[in-house]
Amino acid sequence: MPEVIELPENNLFNVFNILLLENKHRLVKQLKECYEPNVHGHKTWASSFLLMDYFQTHRVIKSTSQVLELGCGWGAASIYCAKNGAKEVTGLDIDENVFPYLKTQAALNGVDVKCKTKSYDKLTAKQLDHYNLIMGGDICFWDELAQMLEKMIRRALKSGVKRIVLADPGRSPFLELAERCTEFAKASLTEWYVCDPDYYEGFILDIKPKKTKS
Ligand SMILES: C[S@@+](CC[C@H](N)C(=O)[O-])C[C@H]1O[C@@H](n2cnc3c(N)ncnc32)[C@H](O)[C@@H]1O
Repeated sequence: MPEVIELPENNLFNVFNILLLENKHRLVKQLKECYEPNVHGHKTWASSFLLMDYFQTHRVIKSTSQVLELGCGWGAASIYCAKNGAKEVTGLDIDENVFPYLKTQAALNGVDVKCKTKSYDKLTAKQLDHYNLIMGGDICFWDELAQMLEKMIRRALKSGVKRIVLADPGRSPFLELAERCTEFAKASLTEWYVCDPDYYEGFILDIKPKKTKS
């Protein structure tokens, strides 16, 4: 059974042993006065919890993991990776207004997550080469994002990234991306659910390079 952890104050929640802010937390209210995320990065989305559960079940995070979270928003999945022993974690987002929320949540958990303001399509092969695990939750909600992500995934695999794990409730651009990834990578799409902090269901797309013939 999980350990009962007493919350230090109201409007926080504990999930997979990390503390996260509810939208009505006093710090979120203060941050909102100065930083207004404008590409849906205004809360922690449920796909982050699917990622945490998947990572825990498959022991994905290792002490050698150099993790890049795409479209990190408030960075819950990044914080999970940092707290669970990843070597280095970077959150990337096109909207710099999400980072004060990420930094506040990282500080609450005593972990360091680096921040990078950039769009998926602007990540070069050389920049991708630095990471061995790329992940993201709720980041493929428009058709153009699916196209961008497909190109980025192709570049990442070519530059040596070993694994890319994406989660989504099952929107059509994400399912189309999953289908397309099977053409050039070893990609599996699995239905997944999580019961913490509430019941959520969706899909995990786990992508690895195709084995080359020796
Ligand atoms: C629905 S939110 C999900 C946030 C976070 N992954 C979570 O699960 O809580 C989508 C995030 O993707 C970011 N985003 C959208 N388009 C992007 C792009 N082209 N490049 C990088 N980030 C992007 C948004 O700013 C937003 O923070």
